[in-house]
Amino acid sequence: MTDDQNKHPEEQVLMEGDPDTTGHVWDGIKEFNNPLPRWWLWTFYATCVWGIVYTVLYPAWPLLDRATPGILGFSTRENVSRDIAEFDAMNTDIRAQLVEVTLSDVNPTDTPELYNYAINGGAAIFATWCSQCHGSGAAGVQASGYPNLLDDDWLWGGTIDDIHYTVSHGIRNEDDLDAHYSEMTAYDEILSDDEIAQVVNYVLNLSGQAADMSLASAGESIFLDNCAACHQDSGMGDQFLGAPNLTDAIWLYGGTPEAIEETVRYSRFGVMPPWSAEASDAGRLSEAEVRAVSIYVHSLGGGQ
Ligand code: HEC
Ligand code: HEC
Repeated sequence: MTDDQNKHPEEQVLMEGDPDTTGHVWDGIKEFNNPLPRWWLWTFYATCVWGIVYTVLYPAWPLLDRATPGILGFSTRENVSRDIAEFDAMNTDIRAQLVEVTLSDVNPTDTPELYNYAINGGAAIFATWCSQCHGSGAAGVQASGYPNLLDDDWLWGGTIDDIHYTVSHGIRNEDDLDAHYSEMTAYDEILSDDEIAQVVNYVLNLSGQAADMSLASAGESIFLDNCAACHQDSGMGDQFLGAPNLTDAIWLYGGTPEAIEETVRYSRFGVMPPWSAEASDAGRLSEAEVRAVSIYVHSLGGGQ
């Protein structure tokens, strides 16, 4: 160290054997103009070459709506579709079997492989397509008209064939002419306020809830005249019309006096989309998928 550290760089003296400097000096530390190490330089050149080769072979430079494709034609999207296709091919046989089989013959004892395939596949389909309305556990959304599929209370029938029909065609939708259809009358302008109060109390009593009994007994004839055609004299409902059983504690839209009055005055119109591509253009699932999800729903505990 000499005392030249405070001098202007150009006046500083190089030590014996020092290489040239770049002219940069700070606090007496000089930046020597050493060549880069060989190994570093070659690595650098190699990465440049690799970079160029890569951008020629593989998708690389972003363009407006996609990237340059690269001459190898590599595509992650295609890899995924190939994997999916392979997976589909693996399942082709069992799917074909599922489409052929008589639904009521599928059970864990006689057809365990088919049954497990349907239950697992059906659960995945349910989570994707059905849970928004029926809830992820299939318990429905109480009082919003999305029925619970776990109980054995069925609007349109709970056999595997009934469920298959409902899932294929849906309910009250305009996309499938074979959809289940029925429409409860709105009684707001047909019955007087008194008559509505009477029939509401009659329904409350039918379902075993607290009711004003004098109103309820006056409501009986109103019920038989207006409601029994669909809900039956007993109030047990009619699965052909999708008319709910009014005698149990299971409610689609709610069993409070207010909810029942709302239903009676304005009626309801629960809509479920059709799913089967075979049955309608709007359908989104293949026949094998519709069958799988139907078997799954039937297995949930409420199937008849
Ligand atoms: C957009 C909402 C919605 C979606 C999505 C939906 N459902 Fe439904 N589902 C309903 C409604 C609403 C009803 C009841 C209609 C009525 O009042 O009769 C219903 C009724 C049903 C019924 C008849 C229940 C009974 O008691 O008879 C079954 C079975 C069913 N859905 C299965 C499914 C399956 C399986 C899927 C998926 C593939 C699905 N639903 C997707 C709204 C939906
Ligand atoms: C034309 C057939 C029809 C007639 C007549 C009819 N209903 Fe209904 N009712 C239905 C259908 C179908 C539903 C289900 C509506 C839906 O799911 O959107 C229903 C639903 C209901 C519900 C809701 C049940 C629940 O679980 O939330 C009540 C309550 C009810 N009806 C009471 C009555 C009363 C009281 C009358 C007579 C004043 C009557 N209905 C007349 C067909 C009918």
